[in-house]
Amino acid sequence: MELPFAESYKIKMVETIRRSTQIEREKWIKEANYNLFNLKSSQVFIDLLTDSGTGAMSDKQWAAMMLGDESYAGASSHQNMKDAIKNIMGFDYFLPTHQGRAAENVLFSVLVKEGDVVPGNSHFDTTKGHIEFRKAKAIDCTIDEAFDTNNLHPFKGNIDTEKLEKVLKQYPKEKISFIVLTLTNNTAGGQPVSLANIKEVSALAKKYGVMLLFDSARFAENAYFIKTREHAYANYTIKEIVLEMYKYADLATMSSKKDAIVNMGGFIGFKNEEIFRKACTYNIMFEGYITYGGMSGRDMNALAQGLDEGTEFEYLETRINQVTYLGNRLIEFGIPVQRPIGGHAVFVDAKKLLTHVPKEQFVAQTLGIELYLEAGIRGVEIGTILADRDPVTRENRYPNLEFLRLAIPRRTYTNNHMDVIAVALKNVFDRRETIKTGYKIVWEAPIMRHFTVELKKI
Ligand code: F0G
Repeated sequence: MELPFAESYKIKMVETIRRSTQIEREKWIKEANYNLFNLKSSQVFIDLLTDSGTGAMSDKQWAAMMLGDESYAGASSHQNMKDAIKNIMGFDYFLPTHQGRAAENVLFSVLVKEGDVVPGNSHFDTTKGHIEFRKAKAIDCTIDEAFDTNNLHPFKGNIDTEKLEKVLKQYPKEKISFIVLTLTNNTAGGQPVSLANIKEVSALAKKYGVMLLFDSARFAENAYFIKTREHAYANYTIKEIVLEMYKYADLATMSSKKDAIVNMGGFIGFKNEEIFRKACTYNIMFEGYITYGGMSGRDMNALAQGLDEGTEFEYLETRINQVTYLGNRLIEFGIPVQRPIGGHAVFVDAKKLLTHVPKEQFVAQTLGIELYLEAGIRGVEIGTILADRDPVTRENRYPNLEFLRLAIPRRTYTNNHMDVIAVALKNVFDRRETIKTGYKIVWEAPIMRHFTVELKKI
C-alpha cells in the first residue's frame, strides 16, 4: 500500500484557540460593524484573514533570533539577510523595510511620477494604492482566463503579452515607471506565472526599454507551481527555479511575511546601483538606516533563515497540499471556487454561491459574515469593497470576480481545521437560498476602505 502524505514537520509549541457560540458571534460581528477586520482574534476560531505574518516560525528561525545583532549600522544580521537575498534571488543590492508596502513606498518614491502608467498582472491593493497615491495609473494586463473560475489554465497569473504590448506602444517609455509581475498573482486567486511568461514579459520590457519589477511576496509558491506544472523545469530544484526566475527581474519588492515565513519584514532587491542609491535616501527618511530599515537584527536573522526554508521543496509541497486539500473538499461539496486551487488560499466565487444578493450589497462580504456566524471562521472579501471607488468618478468599482478568500497561514493549522472550514462553508452553501440581502456602507475611508469600512445589515 502506498504511504499517505504527511507534513514535513512536527509541532514543538502550541497556542490555544477557542470555539464560540452563534449568539456570541452575532453580538461580536454587530459590534464590529460587520467588518471582519474589527473582530478581536479571541472572537475567531480559525483565522483565515490572511497568510501574511501569521505563519509559524521554525526552531531554526527562533534560534537565529537569539543571535540577532542589534547594532545600528553594519550588523551581522544585515549581512546574513544580504547573503540570503544574493544566494536565493541573485540581487547585488538590497534595502530592508518593515514590510512589503514599505518597500513599495520607498521604491515608488524613486520611480513612479504623476501621469505615469504601471502595467502588470492584477496589482495588489497596496501596490495600486501606492501608484494611485502618486497620481499614476495601474493597468491590469492579466490573461482573460484568470476571470473564468472554471478555466483550468495552469498559469492564470500570467500577463497577456498582447495587452501589455498595447500599453508599451501607447505610452512613451518615460511614462512607464516599470512593469510589475505579481508572483503569485494574489488578487486572481494565488495563481502562478509561468517561466515562459516571465521570459516573454522580460523580452517585451527589453524591447521597449522598460524595467521589470517582481512583487515577490509569494515567489517560492510560484516556483513550486513552475516545478510541478511547467514541464521544462520538472527536474530543477526550487532554488534553481527561483534563480532562473530572478534572472529576468530588474527590481523586486518583497513582503517577507509570506514566503520568508516571518511575522514582520520586507525588502527591496535591486540590480542597478544608481536606483539603489536613490532609494537609500527614501529608506533613511521613511524606514530607518540602510542596514536595518525598520527591522530588528533578530528579525533580519529569522528572515534570512526563512528564505532558505521557504524555498525547500518538502516545505512547499506540505504547504500547497494543505491548501489543495481544502479546495478539493469544497469542490466535492459543489462549492464554486477559483480553479485550479491557488498557492496560499482558496478563493470562493461568492457571486455564484449567493445568487440572490445584489452586487450593490457586497456579495463576498455577505458570504464572509455568514461563514463567521456559522463557525467563527474569518476570511476576507476580495471584491467590491476592496476594489475601492474609481479615483475620478468616485463610483464603486465592481470587479469581474467577487471572492471570499480563505488564506491559509503557513505551518499553523492542521487538516482537521481544513475539514471544519469545509463543512462550515457547506452549511452556508446548503442554506444559500435563504440569504437574500447583504449590507450597506455607513462609513468609509477615501482610499483602501476595506480595512476600516463600517457596514449595516439591510
Ligand atoms: N504584494 C502582495 C502580492 C501582497 O499580497 C501583499 C500583502 C503586499 C504586496 C504588501 O505586503 O502586507 O507586507 O505590506 N498581502 C497581504 C494579504 C496583506 O493578506 O494578501 P505587506
